[in-house]
Amino acid sequence: MDCLKEWPEQVVRVQALSDSGLMTIPDLYVRPPAERPSVGNGGDVTSDIPVIELGGLAEGAAACRATIRAVADACSEWGFFQVVNHGVSPDLVARVREVWQAFFHLPMEEKQAYANDPKTYEGYGSRVGVEKGAILDWGDYFFLHLLPESIKNQNKWPALPSSCRETVQEYADELAKLCGTLMKVLSISLGLDVEQLQTAFGGDAVGACLRVNYYPRCPQPELTLGLSAHSDPGGLTILLADDCVNGLQVRRGDDWVTVQPIPGAFIVNVGDQIQVLSNAMYRSVEHRVVVNAAQERLSLAFFYNPRSDIAIAPVSKLVTPERPQLYRPMTFDEYRLYIRKKGPKGKSQVESLKAQSVN
Ligand code: OGA
Ligand code: NI
Repeated sequence: MDCLKEWPEQVVRVQALSDSGLMTIPDLYVRPPAERPSVGNGGDVTSDIPVIELGGLAEGAAACRATIRAVADACSEWGFFQVVNHGVSPDLVARVREVWQAFFHLPMEEKQAYANDPKTYEGYGSRVGVEKGAILDWGDYFFLHLLPESIKNQNKWPALPSSCRETVQEYADELAKLCGTLMKVLSISLGLDVEQLQTAFGGDAVGACLRVNYYPRCPQPELTLGLSAHSDPGGLTILLADDCVNGLQVRRGDDWVTVQPIPGAFIVNVGDQIQVLSNAMYRSVEHRVVVNAAQERLSLAFFYNPRSDIAIAPVSKLVTPERPQLYRPMTFDEYRLYIRKKGPKGKSQVESLKAQSVN
């Protein structure tokens, strides 16, 4: 894919811009008025995404059923929820945060050694999408593939410091486990066999990626976004939000609800692949990130994706005469090319899968 060989413009690190102390942001980061953070965000939205206590899954049958029900309701009503009592050790969470804080505070020359390109996106990046002249987001990131092992080896996992690697590997193992549990919960909640979603994802050969987002301070946060509105292309996302600074907003009708992360919680959302597999019983929900003038923000998004080379289509049990098949099959390799070329564009991709729908 030739257009994915290199970036269309010279890459500018947002962190370097921010550190330069400029008072006005370059035009490239200024969003059209309708997309600016204040729009649809000044109302009385006091609601917040549901919080689910996952400990219930290990208790008696009644508590387990109630927990599955809570996940089902959260997926249908919000597409987002927080999980507490999720089993991932607070010590590991603290370490993985520290490791990435340290990375983004390395001298710029050291970080540049990990600069990414649009072919794999792996490494240190500052944009998603290769369209020349696109409006850019106010954030840098580090992206890497964690699963399957074969991909990791093939792409020569960027040579991170070994302390970092070990922690990241440990974190990835724990989060993959948590996703495995959530996949079972989602399966049951959709009336499927417990392993059915995981099987549809390719069993043991699922994919996983990590995107560590670093949003530097911004002198004009009202004009820009840290991450434009998008739905996640993959299966499940587990976000470790910043422990001090808010910024994630979730679409709720015409409003944007700012998520208030609970200490120690993860934020979970379903991506486009779950929307496709569930034949839109569950929908991926748009979200975006706002930045602020006072504080930088760090978040870790762990993406649990289907095996990349198998076709993903609505599971047959969820296709009925009353609810015909809404999406045509597509592999995740093909699906993710869209965002890799065009950048985050709301829910346009999954909608386009529908427009060209099945006969
Ligand atoms: C993402 C994402 C939210 C955040 O990386 O896909 O939505 O709070 N991140 O950084
Ligand atoms: Ni996202």
